[in-house]
Amino acid sequence: MQSGSDSVLMHTLTVRTLDPVSEAALGIFDSGVGGLTVVRAVRDLLPNEHVVYLGDTARLPYGSKSPETIRRFAAEDIDFLLGKNVKAIVVACNTATAHATPDFWKNCPVPVIGVIKPGVEAALANPDAERIGIIATRGTIQSHAYQHALAQRRRGLMIHGVAAPLLVPLIEEGWIAEDVTRDILARYLQPLMAKGIDTLLLACTHYPLLIPLLRGMLPDDVRLVDSATTCAEDLRRMLDAGGLRNPREAGGSLEIHLTDLSEEFEELARRFLLHPPGRIRRAILD
Ligand code: DGL
Repeated sequence: MQSGSDSVLMHTLTVRTLDPVSEAALGIFDSGVGGLTVVRAVRDLLPNEHVVYLGDTARLPYGSKSPETIRRFAAEDIDFLLGKNVKAIVVACNTATAHATPDFWKNCPVPVIGVIKPGVEAALANPDAERIGIIATRGTIQSHAYQHALAQRRRGLMIHGVAAPLLVPLIEEGWIAEDVTRDILARYLQPLMAKGIDTLLLACTHYPLLIPLLRGMLPDDVRLVDSATTCAEDLRRMLDAGGLRNPREAGGSLEIHLTDLSEEFEELARRFLLHPPGRIRRAILD
């Protein structure tokens, strides 16, 4: 990748020549194909928007990597999307959002939103939320990004995060309804149940696929919050505020780029997206 400021400057010039900016695509990235849960929510809510998606399948998972490595990868992912002249960027990956502080985004020439703020706001939209559980990758939990964001917005919360590293591979294997997945999930949920949580934040791209299983395992009064839908809503607000909504009603397109291609990824993409992903292109990050 080029050094941060050089590449950002180059892309600023490219982005500004686009006319009108509102018709440019949205850039969305994740460590792999899990971020397609966010793409799905964005396309449901904003059907006129074009989306360029980047999944860094060659280097996943991000959830077990160090903060420095994740920030480096995220910078390269952003650079790729800026090269596609996107008008805004959504960091669909919870782990990347957790490790890239606002400072990290500040030189980006287009607006950037992540999944943490929308998820936290959705959790706290319920004024009675007091005892919040979080499940996520190890990287996200260890960053304390969710915990801090929650504590900053409401005093006196009981917040408990559990790293659940086995869930992503199980979901990618398609073992959603298997006993082994239920057993592992029960083990991760046990400390959260013991603390009497009233809200469970699903702080990982993949976890929306577990919602039916979780619903059957948790008491009815535990609220499940996933950031895919809330992130799409946040994006809509941001586009409206910036006059960036695509005014054309022709229907948006989706272009998927992955840094490593395989049949498994195509099949996974279909499952996360809930429809065929179309032609998937190979992305080369430089
Ligand atoms: N996309 C990641 C996240 O939301 C999960 C997969 C990974 O560890 O790369 O945290």
